[in-house]
Amino acid sequence: MKAIILSGGKGTRLRPLTYTGAKQLVPVANKPILWYGIEAIVATGITDIGIIISPETGEEVKAKTGDGDRFGARITYILQEHPAGLAHAVKIARPFLGDSSFVMYLGDNLIQNELGGFLDHFKEQQMDALIMLRPVVNPSAFGVAQVDEQGRVVHLVEKPKVPPSNLALVGIYFFAQTIHASIDRIQPSPRGELEITDAIQNLIDQQKHVEARQIEGWWLDTGKKDDLLEANQIILDTCLQSDLCGELDAQTQISGRVQIGHGSKLINCTVRGPVTIGKDCHLENSFIGPYSSIADQVTLIDADLEHSVILQGARIVGIHQRIVDSVIGQRAHLKTAPQRPKALRFMIGDDCQIELA
Ligand code: G1P
Repeated sequence: MKAIILSGGKGTRLRPLTYTGAKQLVPVANKPILWYGIEAIVATGITDIGIIISPETGEEVKAKTGDGDRFGARITYILQEHPAGLAHAVKIARPFLGDSSFVMYLGDNLIQNELGGFLDHFKEQQMDALIMLRPVVNPSAFGVAQVDEQGRVVHLVEKPKVPPSNLALVGIYFFAQTIHASIDRIQPSPRGELEITDAIQNLIDQQKHVEARQIEGWWLDTGKKDDLLEANQIILDTCLQSDLCGELDAQTQISGRVQIGHGSKLINCTVRGPVTIGKDCHLENSFIGPYSSIADQVTLIDADLEHSVILQGARIVGIHQRIVDSVIGQRAHLKTAPQRPKALRFMIGDDCQIELA
């Protein structure tokens, strides 16, 4: 059994962060989204993993993620020259996959459930495909499944204008090698892509064994700012363990679960967990409220924030109004005079310089 993780795509919905980096490397609780997928796969015992990369961000994904050693896996990078669809990605991964069954994992998806139980079920029943479904309020944004009274999948359709149900396809799939013949039979969709949804529909049309399971826990598709903040909140809530490294002066107060990395310095700060702070940060006279993730080398002086994600090297100085629900890009600078607005909401890209005077 092998796995492929899709880590291409342009990440248009997360611009401007994705102008300068891969969406799958945007951190959730200070860890790239992509790594959660790798860890979930390795936890099932699968260690032979292919990561599909794009020419734009592939080198960055490779440099950051490495050969798999840190995860106890062996990672093979597979270049997809054009974003020609999820089924096209499987096509180009075929030399890597050989005759193996495999898990296909979309690199910006996060789910609460462990994959092991699904994998066992898929193998025991010798299925051709096992898909996961979850009810959503906006099914038109996803692949959608129509299921009969026995829970069998009758019909699948990609991003329908009039959805046949509210059951969206989660971006994690289990396939036997029979999927390849179905991919060879399908044509590009109206958006010009070879859709994996159409390939699974083809398996159904060929009377192959396709099953669906509804997942109970949370599912996050971290493609947009609010999804990213929600993912950050959930991961901090469920996975964060206290670990205080760095230097904390006597005036600094910490409560709740807080993680602080080596080389970080906190002077006269109040930190209310769950909060994660990376390495080599400088925090002074600041309040860091719940559900904040602060990456490495961040500077916060006279700042006040909660429920926000601050990326590497950002600098926030003199913002006394509380920053909430915000994502601040790498190396962004924010500086303000000590008066004015009551609430500030930001989605600020890498390298921005913002001054509220
Ligand atoms: C893809 C799939 C879609 C699925 C979704 C899950 O959509 O095509 O069927 O529901 O992932 O994240 P995309 O993210 O390419 O719009």
